[in-house]
Amino acid sequence: MRIDLVTLFGRAVDNGLLSVAVHDLREHGLGRHRTVDDYPYGGGAGMVLRPEPLFAAIEPLRDDGAHVILLDPAGERLTDPLARELAGLPRLALVCGRYEGIDERARGLADREVSIGDYVLTGGELPALVLLDVVARLVPGVIEAASHEEDSFAAGLLEYPQYTRPEEFRGMGVPQVLLSGHHGEVARWRRREALRRTLERRPDLLRDAPLSEEDRGSLELLHAERHEGSVTNE
Ligand code: ADE
Repeated sequence: MRIDLVTLFGRAVDNGLLSVAVHDLREHGLGRHRTVDDYPYGGGAGMVLRPEPLFAAIEPLRDDGAHVILLDPAGERLTDPLARELAGLPRLALVCGRYEGIDERARGLADREVSIGDYVLTGGELPALVLLDVVARLVPGVIEAASHEEDSFAAGLLEYPQYTRPEEFRGMGVPQVLLSGHHGEVARWRRREALRRTLERRPDLLRDAPLSEEDRGSLELLHAERHEGSVTNE
């Protein structure tokens, strides 16, 4: 089978901003069958990745200066600040474990362990792709900086609502202020809508978000609006 992947990251690769290589753990497998896993000592279900193939695969990458990340549900949670920290590093090695586990002695190979959320996948491959996507788009030059500086989470808030053409769709319009051309008013509206969405959907984020006095004022009004059960739309 041949699989062609159509992706906008192709340009980042062509421009030399990003390069991705895949390493087959099996190449470091043991014996004629290239074995990479074995039964757990002490019994139990599933197979555990043996340490020798992991060391053989990862040590050369680490010696070459890669920051080694093991994808594992027991890892530190992947967040926007962590992604920004990783995007500043010149080289990452992402190690995909299996859900039954890897030999504990191989954990020490990793500089850090990262989880993408509180659920268990069958392996670290999808988490590695998630991390790759999240980090690659923050690598300088891969996408326009402005488009991630206003992202959800970058400012500790969810993103404001976005609209594009047409101006009217199935009877639904576009907020007037966005058509007004007043940059200051547009910015204020967006900030307030970001606060509204965050208050409605992820109020926990407001605890740590950097908020101005004006933001706090807006939040009080939004709170009051919600408790009156009325929604004012401009
Ligand atoms: N491997 C299996 N589940 C995972 C998760 N949630 N995050 C990272 N790696 C994993």
